Amino acid sequence: MSTKLIAPSVLAADFANLQRDIEMVNKSEADWFHIDIMDGVFVPNISFGMPVLDAINRHAKKTIDVHLMIVDPDRYIKTFASLGADVLTVHYEACTHLHRTLQAIKAEGMKAGVALNPHTNVALLKDIIQDIDLVCIMSVNPGFGGQSFIKNTYSKIRELKAIIKERNASTLIEIDGGVTSKNAKQLVDEGADVLVAGSFVFRSDNPTSTIAELKNIVG
Ligand code: DX5
Ligand code: ZN
Repeated sequence: MSTKLIAPSVLAADFANLQRDIEMVNKSEADWFHIDIMDGVFVPNISFGMPVLDAINRHAKKTIDVHLMIVDPDRYIKTFASLGADVLTVHYEACTHLHRTLQAIKAEGMKAGVALNPHTNVALLKDIIQDIDLVCIMSVNPGFGGQSFIKNTYSKIRELKAIIKERNASTLIEIDGGVTSKNAKQLVDEGADVLVAGSFVFRSDNPTSTIAELKNIVG
């Protein structure tokens, strides 16, 4: 069985039919729900907030992976724990005291993730990699779904994988942005563990079979 995970991004779901789309993911071969929270400050877009996550959590039957694209995420760690987040990912670029933030996430019983913008070098995580459960390499500029994949992601995965090995860490590598059936294989071959896919899944004619297709490619 594949240990590679597929995480559909709810940002691309039909919000007028959110329960339908959540149930579709529940019944599919997807592994996680990926939830994008944007504050209009850290990124130039506002997605959705607590009431929507609360509604998702009432129906979702799989791991809830929350990606915070917000400034000062420390303020909301307890809130996201209470809303059902299993993995809480903060941006490296938004955290002055990253080590403290990661400890606070874990203290609430969640897995702690760190996301890197496309321009941020993975080597910056060397001294903290053992404290990170998941690194989310952004393969687009955060803020919007449906953008094209940035190709230097492949070398970032290789470099990060080497750091994880060298430091004997068990950190998962997640790729977020522009993931399709065209790049999925190479991403896992380079060392990715979790692939987030938004528009490729929800804009397809049959999202359930698109998830199965991705799962088959990475399996
Ligand atoms: C972008 C978000 C992504 C987005 C991915 O800021 O973090 O999770 O939903 O969407 P696609 O797969 O359409 O690039
Ligand atoms: Zn995301």
